[in-house]
Amino acid sequence: MKRKKERQNLHPKIQNYGREILDHSSYKDMKNFKQHGNVSVHDHCLRVAETSLRINEKLKKLRMHLNEREMVRGALLHDYFLYDWHDKKNRLKLHGFYHPGHALKNAERDFDLTKREKNIIKTHMFPLTITKIPTHRESWVVSIADKWCSLVETLKMRKPS
Ligand SMILES: [Fe+2]
Ligand SMILES: [Fe+2]
Repeated sequence: MKRKKERQNLHPKIQNYGREILDHSSYKDMKNFKQHGNVSVHDHCLRVAETSLRINEKLKKLRMHLNEREMVRGALLHDYFLYDWHDKKNRLKLHGFYHPGHALKNAERDFDLTKREKNIIKTHMFPLTITKIPTHRESWVVSIADKWCSLVETLKMRKPS
């Protein structure tokens, strides 16, 4: 019942393009890892995919045509690193630098990825990962959507002073 409700709220394009990913058991594990505040990594990735679609609607008006399927799949997998990055025992202080590589490795193991989808995952932390420059429009959109969603999630954690 809960699952059905979750699906109903999901953008139809995310349901359609992301079906294979969303149904994967390892992908569902991301519900157990927190990203910012109370937001799980799973929900964060859904938000980034939704925000990317919203940005793309604006770009369409400027006659820019991006591949929505690859953009959504890349957004869903951009943080597919599958560990708790808050856990100090993991000694993952450089999580910001290394997690795109972990996410890409896991995503290549579990799914057949296009060149563009790999680029989205690998470069989403640019400019922190200064040598991993986005080379596709879809990668720029997901990288910006990720920064926006992370900012909102972080600000929501802070109590008003
Ligand atoms: Fe990330
Ligand atoms: Fe992210």
